[in-house]
Amino acid sequence: MVSERDRRIVLIAPPGAGKSTQATRLAEQFGIPWISTGELLRAAVREGTPLGQSARAYMERGEMVPDDVVIALVQERLASADCQNGFILDGFPRTRAQAEALRAAGVNLDYVIELELDDAEAVLRLSGRRVHPASGRTYHVVFHPPKVAGKDDITGEDLVQRADDTEEAVRTRLEVYRRQTEPVVAWYREWAARKDPNAPRYVRISASGTPEEVSARLIGLLSANSSESAVGAAGR
Ligand code: AP5
Repeated sequence: MVSERDRRIVLIAPPGAGKSTQATRLAEQFGIPWISTGELLRAAVREGTPLGQSARAYMERGEMVPDDVVIALVQERLASADCQNGFILDGFPRTRAQAEALRAAGVNLDYVIELELDDAEAVLRLSGRRVHPASGRTYHVVFHPPKVAGKDDITGEDLVQRADDTEEAVRTRLEVYRRQTEPVVAWYREWAARKDPNAPRYVRISASGTPEEVSARLIGLLSANSSESAVGAAGR
């Protein structure tokens, strides 16, 4: 099993690869908080806070929210008591400045896990996505349908399509990922390859297959690699 010191996990992946789907499952499995910058920002937009008002336009266009805003948000969240035994960061860091800020703040990550999926499959996943805004629970009209069409399984409340799941915004998000986040992945990969004892373990796994298959891959690798440094690929 994953040990106490192996629970500071970053999930990095292109939009639609299934970060939130997998992060919520891992959070439940290990009893640690799921921290999604997308969810934190959407909550701020819903509540109409000054932060939400400034983030909204960036998000709807599929562009990055400025680094200083997101870094402050994550630093505040990581200072909470429930993060002391670990956390799963979903969607952060996604720029080099964000990764550097995390390191400068002394946040020692155990794992950086890259989920890989080709763009065509990601677009298919995003076009059928439906979400329950209050909880962030995510469904798909074909791949993971709710029990009652259009309704959240737990509360029965309406599901909605995200404002940034339009074709144009999805194209922008994929392009932003390639340009700004892939270099962050390379940075972590190279840091781990140098065998620096402070480097998080970097692992790349395929996000293809059913959510259950991807979860099994993730749990398997976290269990197998809990006591050794790893740079590698799994499930491909
Ligand atoms: P964010 O919410 O993080 O969006 P994203 O990165 O584009 O990722 P998604 O939420 O679209 O996809 P996901 O990988 O979580 O997939 P999911 O599990 O939902 O960020 C939104 C915006 O906020 C950004 O564009 C930016 O503006 C801003 N932002 C956030 N973080 C930021 C940061 N650090 N810096 C600056 N700005 C930031 O799955 C997708 C669908 O597929 C679902 O319908 C699901 O049911 C289905 N599915 C999942 N897995 C499978 C599977 N294995 N098989 C079939 N279907 C599946």
